[in-house]
Amino acid sequence: MHIEKIIEENKQGQSLVSEQTDGNHKKLFIESYGCQMNMNDSEIVASILAKEGFNTTQLLEEADLVLVNTCSIRDKAEQTIRKRLQYYNKVKKINPTMKVGVLGCMAERLKSKFLEEEKIVDLVVGPDAYRDLPNLIEEVDAGRNAVNVILSKEETYGDVSPVRLQSNGVSAFVSITRGCDNMCTFCVVPFTRGRERSRDPESIIKEIRDLKDNNFKEVTLLGQNVDSYLWYGGGLKKDFNKASEIAKATAVDFAKLLDLCAKEFPKIRFRAFTSNPQDMSLDVLHIIAKHENICKYIHLPVQSGSTRILERMNRQHTREEYLELVDNIHKIIPNCALSQDIMTGFCGETEEDHQETISLMQKVKYDYGFMFAYSERPGTLAAKKFEDDVPLKIKKSRLAEIIALQQEHSHYRTKQFVGNIVEVLIEGTSKKSEAHWKGRNTQNTVVVFPKENYKMGDFVDVKIDSCTSATLIGKAVSYSNH
Ligand code: SAH
Ligand code: F3S
Repeated sequence: MHIEKIIEENKQGQSLVSEQTDGNHKKLFIESYGCQMNMNDSEIVASILAKEGFNTTQLLEEADLVLVNTCSIRDKAEQTIRKRLQYYNKVKKINPTMKVGVLGCMAERLKSKFLEEEKIVDLVVGPDAYRDLPNLIEEVDAGRNAVNVILSKEETYGDVSPVRLQSNGVSAFVSITRGCDNMCTFCVVPFTRGRERSRDPESIIKEIRDLKDNNFKEVTLLGQNVDSYLWYGGGLKKDFNKASEIAKATAVDFAKLLDLCAKEFPKIRFRAFTSNPQDMSLDVLHIIAKHENICKYIHLPVQSGSTRILERMNRQHTREEYLELVDNIHKIIPNCALSQDIMTGFCGETEEDHQETISLMQKVKYDYGFMFAYSERPGTLAAKKFEDDVPLKIKKSRLAEIIALQQEHSHYRTKQFVGNIVEVLIEGTSKKSEAHWKGRNTQNTVVVFPKENYKMGDFVDVKIDSCTSATLIGKAVSYSNH
């Protein structure tokens, strides 16, 4: 295949490139699929491998080592990665010495089976084993396949400073917890990312300080379930009860961590992702309300509006409890934006259950959302206990219905901003126009406005003149006094 054609086809996943370290001769091509946690993990991997003589490249065909950080959340995500591996196979014909490694959730799920199923793969590394990469690469260089999929009980990468890959230099992700203990019956994450553990607040603060010193303006604290953050000196969340009285008394929960970060860095804007309704405390809401530098936006996955389905999913709240939490959010944090994850066609979902999801959406009117058709994952509790009995056609028609409704609600929400002035952090050039900046307001809504003399990383007050369902369009009035 012609090389330009290959480069063109290559623009698929998030291929990542960082600043180059002098003296490094080997070339690493790394790309990420799936969640932000994967993007952040790829940055950690690049940092580990920079010490092993690797600089990142955006050209797959010149790479000595190709790593793909994978996602298992839905079958489609896995199929996309399998296709990508076929494509690597083609590139290998041009670059025969290239080695290929699979990282992340698919590596953890399939383990050494990967080597049998996909002949192109030399290396399989689970999400907790990236520190072992230098040894594993040595094995591969010696002509052997290498696998490490051992999951850990401790926060694994607390002291690694991620290399900020293809960063805009303005906003960055900082991981605060790993793994998940919730065991939602549909979800593969507890199997691929292991048990939940939190990171030492000191190492979190240190990482944010480094970002601040490098002029970053916004930090998103990341975890599968940030509200369940709990530091008591290390170890799994589930073992907290066995900790000493001193450890318990001095423990830091998510509300305390947020408070600590917001006070320590008053000029940094904070976000957190993902919140879980069952763990979100009123304390957290009060801290969000108290600090101007914590964004007024909460991603609050609901999955379904039917208590019967929520119970089958092992979500630890009812429809009513969720709606009560939403009421509390609006009472405690005025103008707080909310987004959702919703799944259609989970096992046993009837038309009545679906209508309950619709009516919950109508009550909440989310600012936006991420919506999916249920995809059975091997090994999960749902796969073992329930029949995947909603026909694909119905899953899809329900999905189309909720997507259309969400679009209406998003438009309803964006219209509320027209005529108002909002504070925006400039993150980059608008995709549609070189002459416009794009950024987000505190509610996480995208705002686009003419560049004038403003620059990346500025906080600017923008008067909103019009909107689409996803974007606010306006004109800068002045710098904001952030
Ligand atoms: N920790 C988050 C969710 C992580 S997964 C939480 O608290 O909910 C992101 C989203 O993917 C989920 O919220 C869910 O809507 C969707 N998802 C997870 N497993 C899925 C599956 N088997 N099929 C379809 N969607 C799924
Ligand atoms: Fe998955 Fe539920 Fe955890 S959706 S990531 S098991 S909160």
